Amino acid sequence: MNAQALLTQLYDTPETDILEQISSLKTELGDQVLILGHHYQREEVFAFADVSGDSLKLSQQAAETTAPYVIFCGVHFMAETADILTSDEQTVILPDLAAGCSMADMADDEQVERCWAELSDVISPDLCVTPVTYINSTASLKSFCGEHGGIVCTSGNAQKVLEWSWNNREKILFFPDQYLGENTAVAMGIADEDMIIWDPFLPLGGNTPEAIQQARLILWKGFCSVHQFFKPEHAATMRNNHADIEILAHPECSRDVCEVSDFIGSTEMIIKHVSQAPAGSKFAIATELNLVNRLRIQFPDKPIWFLSPMICMCSTMFRTDPQHLCLALTSVRDAIKHNHSVSNQITVPHEQQRWAKLSLERMLNLV
Ligand code: 13P
Ligand code: SF4
Repeated sequence: MNAQALLTQLYDTPETDILEQISSLKTELGDQVLILGHHYQREEVFAFADVSGDSLKLSQQAAETTAPYVIFCGVHFMAETADILTSDEQTVILPDLAAGCSMADMADDEQVERCWAELSDVISPDLCVTPVTYINSTASLKSFCGEHGGIVCTSGNAQKVLEWSWNNREKILFFPDQYLGENTAVAMGIADEDMIIWDPFLPLGGNTPEAIQQARLILWKGFCSVHQFFKPEHAATMRNNHADIEILAHPECSRDVCEVSDFIGSTEMIIKHVSQAPAGSKFAIATELNLVNRLRIQFPDKPIWFLSPMICMCSTMFRTDPQHLCLALTSVRDAIKHNHSVSNQITVPHEQQRWAKLSLERMLNLV
């Protein structure tokens, strides 16, 4: 049966049966398969992750595992990263190939190459600019960074990466997330006059040559639509309604939200912060809903609110459902039994692997 037919059949099967099938396939496959699950995954899928984490922890895990098959319950750039960091003999699977990241789509090769060329008209980027890509980007942009003396960062290590980058060269080109770059720089005490925004749809990114020459940080105009739902007025309402509440924000939130927050960190850092707080601590959290709901269940003694009154979920993370996970495990079992290839394998082209790996290793060596 082909993958599409099997998926159709799985959607006609009661979910309890699917969950049982996943459990028994996991038992049957044992160490042959490792399931990585990002914190934004829905509960029914997250429950089957062998390792859960933020992008940093999951990329470290991918670099360390010897499992022949890695099923990445996350989004496309995460599975690409895992493919780059695993050996050629290991196979990485993304259960639903349509699970992308809208922020990662906000910078492509052509735009970044054009930006570099335009910068070359004004400064010498290969001498004075470190390109830094957020891990939420395509493998080819990670490759671009590797080739041009640059590096990858995650929301869990952005400050260390910016320090490393400024130690090497006087300027940074940071893409695709303006806010992670900006919020990190603000926390490091970088002045507004030292930062400019690069709009990829405008000549010179919408800047004058003088502004580019003076800038220390060039921030790509990209963002996460999920995290843009949080507003500073939501924090004000929470503080009015609940005395002593702490506002926790992911650094993909806009600067005005981070400025009124008490704590800014990656998903892993937010979880750690909540888990270490004494019972009775109150939190309003500005990050994806599945994670916030999980924290509520995990810590019933610590009242937790979702910061926005609107429900904002990452719809692409949500694409990975039990049916797709079951399909991925079935495909691995059949591939082992019949010695054929799996469905939904993620393979980063060889020519991108080398430089992309270098930019990732530069980051992993800093942590
Ligand atoms: P973390 O690395 O903090 O888990 O964030 C990944 C992500 O895509 C957040 O939107
Ligand atoms: Fe991308 Fe935003 Fe979803 Fe994270 S939450 S995967 S940045 S779209």
